[in-house]
Amino acid sequence: MGAVIGGTGMYVPENVVSNHDLARIMDTTDEWITTRTGVKERRFVDPGTGSSDLAIRAVDRAMDDAGVGTDEVDALVTATMTPDYLAPGIAGLVQAGLGLSHVAAFDVRQQCSGFLYGLDLADALISSGRADTVAVVGAEVHAGFQPWSEESWRVLLGQSDGPLDQGDYERNTKYRGWSVLFGDGAGAAIVRRGDSDDQGVLATSLHTDGDSFELIWVPGVGFKSRPYVSQADIAEDVHLPTMDGGGLFRKAVRLMPEAARAVLDEAQMTLDEVDLVVAHQANDRILEGVRKQFGMEPEKVPSNIGSYGNTTAGTLPILYHELRTAGRVRPGSVVCFAAFGAGAHYGAALYKEP
Ligand code: ACO
Repeated sequence: MGAVIGGTGMYVPENVVSNHDLARIMDTTDEWITTRTGVKERRFVDPGTGSSDLAIRAVDRAMDDAGVGTDEVDALVTATMTPDYLAPGIAGLVQAGLGLSHVAAFDVRQQCSGFLYGLDLADALISSGRADTVAVVGAEVHAGFQPWSEESWRVLLGQSDGPLDQGDYERNTKYRGWSVLFGDGAGAAIVRRGDSDDQGVLATSLHTDGDSFELIWVPGVGFKSRPYVSQADIAEDVHLPTMDGGGLFRKAVRLMPEAARAVLDEAQMTLDEVDLVVAHQANDRILEGVRKQFGMEPEKVPSNIGSYGNTTAGTLPILYHELRTAGRVRPGSVVCFAAFGAGAHYGAALYKEP
């Protein structure tokens, strides 16, 4: 029987940072960010809050929505690029925080495609009879990888009027190409055994383009170096992400539709039968490219990037939760999930609402 999504939940932190706020700490404008990306504002946690904390709240809400108790969850999949600690991942923290029993709980490190890989794993566990109910969550705290000083954060959050030190302003401007894109948030789904084969997860197509590994990555603070972190690394900022925005853009626009077509072929369905494409929210212009490739009207490829920015593993479940809550997903709706991100991992899943 196909695996169905029985409940969803999301959690985003309270601190809202608009493009205008960002323009107070770096050389950028609301106009640049809006026209290039579609992002208007994003959320950030307070220091001391990790992606595990956001994940716990999102799963808790999804379990409530599904009417599932802690004793019914057979496995937990946590997807994050920004774990609370370098090692281990957040699965154990989320499991303990939710009060689940000692069921298998594991992290997937597939970044923007993390939820998609998690959904596929949940479907595989259920199809193989190893589990009946799997919680899948995508959660990110990008606040921690921003290059901003404490004073920059205070100015950003309206806790200080500045003026910002010129050195801080220049540093923030140096990294404006990627820092303005990201926000914090978590989304979760409770995946359960369905009643029939013609509903739930109909097909998945997951891929990795390892040759594109360096399109977006954090080159420092890894165990290939000895020691794995040094003062020199920090001084050279190798603990910060580096990104080839144009390269990512071109790959995402080509490979997300390719994967979507593959799942449609596998399910022997056509684009006309798809009600919604829930695609990774990295950039509105990427979504526009996907819409053009499919010849779809904007409503069918929805976007919420304006409110949250790119929440990496969080984007798919957050958007899907919002669409469900808004009544945009109805019984029988066909949803195509698609993602592309660091790794470079990408893929699609075709899903039919029970
Ligand atoms: N504000 C103002 N100006 C800026 C900013 C900013 N925030 N960022 C860059 N610029 C400037 C650059 O310095 C450059 O100036 P120059 O021409 O004087 O040198 C100019 O704007 C153009 O920069 P580009 O990088 O060429 O801008 P582009 O049009 O390619 O847009 C963007 C950049 C928005 C990053 C785009 O390439 C993109 O969104 N790519 C996809 C990114 C993505 O998907 N990332 C995440 C995927 S992976 C994951 O989610 C983990």
